[in-house]
Amino acid sequence: MYPLDWLEERSGLVGGVRYFLFRNVPSDVDWFQTLGSATLTAFLVQAITGVILAMYYKPSTKEAYPSIQHITNDVDFGWLVRGMHRWGASVFIILLFFHMARVFLYGAYKYPRELNWIVGVFLLILGMFEGFTGYLLPYDQTAYWATVVGMNITGNGPFVGTVLAQLMQGGPAIGGDTLARFYSLHMLVAPGLIFALIGLHLYLVIRLGVSSPPWSKEAAGREDLEPEPKTPARSGLVTPTMRGRPTP
Ligand code: HEM
Repeated sequence: MYPLDWLEERSGLVGGVRYFLFRNVPSDVDWFQTLGSATLTAFLVQAITGVILAMYYKPSTKEAYPSIQHITNDVDFGWLVRGMHRWGASVFIILLFFHMARVFLYGAYKYPRELNWIVGVFLLILGMFEGFTGYLLPYDQTAYWATVVGMNITGNGPFVGTVLAQLMQGGPAIGGDTLARFYSLHMLVAPGLIFALIGLHLYLVIRLGVSSPPWSKEAAGREDLEPEPKTPARSGLVTPTMRGRPTP
């Protein structure tokens, strides 16, 4: 196959993708182990809708709120893109916590996956940081006062709290400089780091393999135990037959 062979010979990328798609996973993985991919999907939705919003949003104290109103009321499907980004932020954080809870409850953070847990902790911090920095961007009353509270909490943090709050605020009070800093952190720095860490996270998932659930007999090496009863699949799905003909 000309283009694929050409690419494979020069990069090995096709083999890499084939390995990723056809690698073996334990036979007893369950739906809760799709929560990581669900979190990834939510993050990608945020990235795509965020890029579209950035085409119209203006990060200055005078223009921020009117530009958000313009997106919502005038731009074609602006209400939809903004709504997806705003609600999607909550979906992302909720899925992030569900995924982390799954990993914790299944004990999937244990050897040899400790490093992936640590990478996950950074993803969690960055994910919440995205929520905090994004909240100021509409620059309405809720945004302003929520950020005042957030900055006070940051400023009271031990050791680095004061410096961190000063760095983020960019002046004696929350204002235009804070908005510009939050915007840059929200749409460049944090997403860049998240993308890089997700790459590392997935590399580790592929390298170490997905873990089996804690009750897995297969993983415990107890093949002597009764195998799990197989739920019979709908016969039509297993052996397709012509309509109206009896299933063999
Ligand atoms: C942007 C955020 C995140 C994304 C996109 C993400 C994505 C994924 C994906 C796709 C998997 C493989 C499938 C699965 O087990 O669900 C996975 C596994 C894993 N994740 Fe995450 N994750 C994120 C955050 C976190 C957090 C916050 C933690 C913990 C603090 C964490 C710890 C782990 C661990 C230890 C595994 C290996 C689990 C196993 O092999 O069974 N992840 N992640």
